[in-house]
Amino acid sequence: MHLTLAPLHGFTDATFRKTYFRHFRGLDDAIAPFVSLTHGDKVTRLKVKDLIADKDSPVRVIPQILGNEPGTFIMMCNYLSDELGCTEVNWNLGCPVHSIVHKRRGSGMLPYPEQIAAFLDQVMPELRMRLSVKLRLGYYSVSEFPPVIRVLNGFPLHTVTVHPRIGTQMYEGEVLLEALDEFFPLIEHDWIYNGDLHSLASFEMIRKRYPGLSRFMLGRGVFLNPFLPEMIRSGTNVLPADWQERFHLFHTELEQNVRNSRHYWMSKMKEYWKYFGVFLQMQPEELRQLLGTADEQSWKARTTALINGRPGLQQPVPGGLLTND
Ligand SMILES: Cc1cc2nc3c(=O)[nH]c(=O)nc-3n(C[C@H](O)[C@H](O)[C@H](O)COP(=O)(O)O)c2cc1C
Repeated sequence: MHLTLAPLHGFTDATFRKTYFRHFRGLDDAIAPFVSLTHGDKVTRLKVKDLIADKDSPVRVIPQILGNEPGTFIMMCNYLSDELGCTEVNWNLGCPVHSIVHKRRGSGMLPYPEQIAAFLDQVMPELRMRLSVKLRLGYYSVSEFPPVIRVLNGFPLHTVTVHPRIGTQMYEGEVLLEALDEFFPLIEHDWIYNGDLHSLASFEMIRKRYPGLSRFMLGRGVFLNPFLPEMIRSGTNVLPADWQERFHLFHTELEQNVRNSRHYWMSKMKEYWKYFGVFLQMQPEELRQLLGTADEQSWKARTTALINGRPGLQQPVPGGLLTND
């Protein structure tokens, strides 16, 4: 079984990855949040700053590129392979953000399979590294998926990751498992399931539903329960006995690293706490108060009290469970 950390822009950056991998096991590799390339962009160290920080990562980090222009894509791939020694790059065909889709980038390219074919025709022969793709079932409709997958099948891609939503759903609503049931036999490459694997139960449901599938990608689930990859591997739904101590150490180091990397560190930590709050089974009012904290001292006191004040917690909440059966 292969477990990959999903790219989450603004969340799984180098600071998070470095800290998380020091404290938790279970993940085999990670896809970094996208580097966006538009026409005429230069490849600079600044663009790949986040990836440079991974040079000594104990877990392999695969860069991801969001773009639709073959020339700049090839230039970036060559830079990543020559300067950073990367052996794989992931192409983003899933981003649903309107300003991106509007320019036929991310999931905005899915209604245009002929453009995907033309892009790959130009890019593939020039690459000195493996290429993998991450995509949704479509932008407007799942009917976009079969023509796209037929195009992808014609190229020697390493893996294809499928997040079974369409772009217009953004990150909400149900994952479209009935459509995936129909379409996954069309995928000729090794494929990776991604989407709403937020608990051991949802992971087991997907594993049963797609027998033979051995690759899974976890995104928000890792924030909703940082122990999830370990628990998936051990098949237990009980948190480790020392979870509190380990989460505390992880949190302290994450906060320190975030403080060292940015001025507005507290707002970044608050974004993480929207998920950690679910992990710690906080009441909505408790979380609202925490997110309203403005001064450092109260923040420190509150977060420490919250982590240390949950000794009875043994099982993660079943939150994020897939509702389809
Ligand atoms: C805040 C946020 C940022 C994301 N950034 C990226 C990204 O940079 N590249 C990408 O391919 N997907 C991105 N995604 C999508 C996730 O990788 C993943 O496909 C999606 O969250 C579903 O998986 P999950 O339920 O395990 O989180 C992002 C999702 C969220 C919520």
